Formats: sequence, structure tokens, C-alpha cells
Amino acid sequence: MTEHVPPPARSQWTVALAVSGVVAVVGIAGVWFVLSQQRRLVPDDARAPTAEYGRLLVAQTSWFLGPDQPDPERRYAGSRLNCGSCHLDAGTRPGTLGLTETFQNYPRPSGRDGKEADLKERIDGCMERSMNGRKLPRDSVEMDAMVAYIRSISEQWMATSPERRVVLERAALRPPARAASLEAGQAVFEARCRVCHGSDGEGLLASSDPRRGYVFPPLWGDYSFNNGAGMGRVLTAARFIKARMPFGRADLTDDEAFDVAAYLNSKPRPHMSPERLEQDYPDRSKKPVDSPYGPYADPFPQQQHRFGPFAPIEAYYKKQ
Ligand code: HEC
Ligand code: HEC
Repeated sequence: MTEHVPPPARSQWTVALAVSGVVAVVGIAGVWFVLSQQRRLVPDDARAPTAEYGRLLVAQTSWFLGPDQPDPERRYAGSRLNCGSCHLDAGTRPGTLGLTETFQNYPRPSGRDGKEADLKERIDGCMERSMNGRKLPRDSVEMDAMVAYIRSISEQWMATSPERRVVLERAALRPPARAASLEAGQAVFEARCRVCHGSDGEGLLASSDPRRGYVFPPLWGDYSFNNGAGMGRVLTAARFIKARMPFGRADLTDDEAFDVAAYLNSKPRPHMSPERLEQDYPDRSKKPVDSPYGPYADPFPQQQHRFGPFAPIEAYYKKQ
């Protein structure tokens, strides 16, 4: 009598994993295809202070202002990121890092600058830090075009009826009450991020012409944001990652988002001059608790400001 041996459970898993692997690969290829097509459609004769040119500047910054721009005068960004690498759908996606409610909020007080800042100064904040570049001249066509664009998307959003102005987004991050674990962050990175952002976080260029920028942008290294950027703060990065990543399938837990944010911010990236960073937050008590660079108005070590736990630092300032 032949004994019936049930197939090992593992083989069903192998099939299931293979199928879900195919689905994931098709999904990633789809994202790659759509984004790489968008990167191709860049007219070079768009220069005018219009919302339309502003949209191109936000969506394809590396083409117009990046380090591979043929005219050295117009190489304003040091990274090859686009504004839209973080402000998704060129800022039109409401919610985390959306630019849909931005225009009417400026001018506003800026703790970092220690004074009121208008929208142009705020854009320059991202130019110098998130884009690792330099300021755009205040009255340049590019600056006016970006302001016109941000104004137009804010106006369109405000003109949408309140019932339709819904933000479909996951619950906001609740930071774990512990220091981030870089080992756990690395495991999240390898399982969930690496497939798009590359095994060394280097990203994937849209074509052999680096001026076209990235389909999957770099998370660290020479062409990523610098250490003065908002994304360089673990809580800011974790909020974005929880809300938006993995792209098209944001499903990380608070712990995973927190750890992977710390992991990518533990990696090398461009640095702003220390003298420049020292001028940030003239009122040091206004400095965000997760600011990775000193000086601080509290006794906590820099390591804790970089990777937590943040609750004790928050408690310290509440008592002051
Ligand atoms: C690496 C990610 C990243 C890139 C690239 C980036 N930004 Fe930002 N931007 C941020 C973050 C993070 C904030 C919020 C900062 C904070 O919380 O301190 C922000 C805030 C802003 C704000 C203020 C929004 C508001 O409603 O107050 C504007 C305007 C802005 N960015 C414009 C731009 C423009 C224009 C570019 C391209 C030239 C750009 N950003 C590139 C990450 C980025
Ligand atoms: C399916 C591909 C894909 C996966 C997987 C993915 N991302 Fe992204 N990520 C993107 C794309 C695409 C953008 C930029 C969006 C754009 O340009 O429109 C982006 C942007 C980002 C940015 C802001 C820009 C920058 O370079 O700093 C961060 C940070 C980020 N991703 C982190 C993560 C982390 C952490 C994970 C894993 C938990 C992850 N991503 C998984 C595709 C992906």
C-alpha cells in the first residue's frame, strides 16, 4: 500500500510567493513605466513666469535646475531630486507634504529663520537643503513661476467643495517611545524599499541622461537631500514614509516607518556648512526635537536628537 504523503506546506508557499512576486514586479514595472514616460516629456522652451512652467519646474526640477543642466549659471540644485520626489504628484496630492494648502499660509513665522518668511524664502529653504543647492534669485522667472504654480494648486483646492476636499491618508505616525533600531530599519529597507531605491539607496535614473533625473530617487549619497533638510529629521521622514511609502502601497507600521527613517538618515549624504547650520533656530528652544545637528538648548546628546527616544526631550521642553 502506498502511503499518501501530503505535499509539504512549503511548496504552496513557494507558489504563493512566486505569484505575489510576479504581481509586485508587474506593479513596480508599471510605476517605472509611467514615471519614466513623464520624465521624457520636457519641452525646453517653457520659460515664462507662468503656473505651467512652475509645474514643470516642480515635477522635473533636475531637467531645468539640476547639476547636469548644460548652462552652469542655471545649475541651482546639487541633487538630482525633483521637488515632486517628496511633494508627490507635483504637490497636488493633498495630505503629507502636499502643497494644496500652502499658498494662503505665507508669509508666516519661521523658527528656523527666526523671522517671518514668505513663500519665496520657504521655497529657497527646500532649494538649499532638500535639493542641496543654492537660492534662486527672488525675482527670477523660475521663482515667480513656482509661486504662480503653488498659488494655482492652492486656489484649485480651496475652490473644491468642502465635501470633496477629503484627504485619503493613513492615520498619522505615533512615534514609538524608544530609540530607533538601525538593524530593524535595515531589515525593513531590504524587504520593502530596496527593490525600487536600489541596494545602496542610490535610486534608479530615468535614462542614461542623468539630466532627466530619477524614476526612483536616491535616499542617501551625493545626489540626495543634505543633512539640513526636513527629510533628514527622523520624525519628519517617518511621517512621510508611513503616509507614502512603499510608493503605491503605503502599509508600514509606526515601528517600521520609524526604524527605516532612522536607517536612511544614518547613511552618508551631502553636508551643509556647519557655520550655516549653526545659524538655524536663533531661538534654540524652537528647534525641533529631532533636529540632527546642534547646538541644542537642552542637555540631551546629539545621538538622542538623531534617533530618539524623543519623548524625554519633548517632556523637558514642556517643563521649561
Ligand atoms: C527631500 C524631500 C523634499 C524635496 C526634494 C523638496 N521638499 Fe519641500 N518640503 C519638504 C519637507 C520635509 C517639508 C516640510 C518641512 C518641515 O516639516 O520642516 C517641505 C516644505 C515645503 C514647503 C512649505 C509647505 C507648506 O505648506 O508650508 C514648500 C513651499 C516647499 N517645500 C517647496 C519645495 C520646492 C519648490 C521644492 C523643489 C525646489 C521642494 N520643496 C523640494 C521636503 C522636500
Ligand atoms: C514601487 C517603488 C517604490 C518602493 C518599493 C519605495 N519607494 Fe520610495 N519612492 C518611490 C518613488 C517613485 C518616489 C518619488 C515619487 C515621484 O518622483 O513622483 C519615492 C520617494 C521616496 C522618498 C522621498 C525622496 C527621496 O529620495 O528622499 C523617500 C524618503 C522614500 N521614497 C522612502 C522610501 C522607503 C523608506 C521605502 C521602503 C519602506 C520606499 N521608499 C519604498 C518609489 C518607491
